[in-house]
Amino acid sequence: MRKKVTKAIFPVAGLGTRFLPATKSVPKEIMTLVDRPLVQYAIDEARAAGIKEFIFVTSRGKGALEDYFDHAPTLEAELEAKGKTDLLNVLKDTYMESGAIAYIRQHKALGLGHAVWCARRLIGNEPFAVMLPDDVIAAETPCLQQMVEAYEETGGSMVAAMEVLPEKSSSYGMLDVSRDMGSIVEVKDMVEKPKPDESPSNLAVIGRYILNPSVLNNLNHKKKGAGGEIQLTDAIAEEIGKEGRGVFGYRFRGQRFDCGSKAGFLQATVAFALARDDLRDDLSRYLSEIKHIDKAAQ
Ligand code: UTP
Repeated sequence: MRKKVTKAIFPVAGLGTRFLPATKSVPKEIMTLVDRPLVQYAIDEARAAGIKEFIFVTSRGKGALEDYFDHAPTLEAELEAKGKTDLLNVLKDTYMESGAIAYIRQHKALGLGHAVWCARRLIGNEPFAVMLPDDVIAAETPCLQQMVEAYEETGGSMVAAMEVLPEKSSSYGMLDVSRDMGSIVEVKDMVEKPKPDESPSNLAVIGRYILNPSVLNNLNHKKKGAGGEIQLTDAIAEEIGKEGRGVFGYRFRGQRFDCGSKAGFLQATVAFALARDDLRDDLSRYLSEIKHIDKAAQ
């Protein structure tokens, strides 16, 4: 019987330079798709997958993130006095059970692998999830839940994988596959940010992982990889070929938005707004209007 995955690490200590100047004072994870911060989508997905403990790896200037998950007594009293129960219900999603959320500081942005390693003492000897909130995944069955179900079959460490255009390989960790079983693939190598002609496949790793605790031991060496950063991909790749462990890629069902980039963030904003009953009609009308303006200009 495998141990259940009940802990998730959310590394949010990066500098978010692609969204400067906003990220000078607003954590990227608090930026909103319509009216919900990116981090709320990640928390909802984690909860659906059975996660009970939420570990944030933060850095200086991320105070707004901690406040977001706190209660807001003055606001609540005001809403209650005005009888705004619908808005009080909206706030409920943001509450965390006492003791369920922890914040650890990464003192220097040394890389994603280092951020995950900073949380090692809160993980102990059990499998855990890692979720990057800037990857937002719209899916009927939430992506991490799909992965937890697949992990129960395979064991080993598991990374979410998706096909990308060859020219995009230098933005991702890329998988070298030894066995393709459809939604699950067995991995024989992982390469961080290869040039297109050096990429072993077009299967890229995106921001959802289920990892065995041995990955944390691999991170103890603090080996620097691509870009001079301590890479999570390298520590996962060390698991390949280990007896009874191994590494698997999981082709999830759903649409992933790269909200760490401006184009991806805008696409997600439009997609999530079009999915909302209160916004769909106005926005569709506007989009078809600007399409006509665009055509006329050509
Ligand atoms: P990114 O590569 O997107 O970097 O990190 P970033 O700093 O967030 O954004 P840009 O590129 O400067 O615009 C991927 C994830 O890893 C976390 C980030 O917070 C993000 O969730 N990360 C990265 C850390 O927590 N610590 C690090 O040292 C590096």
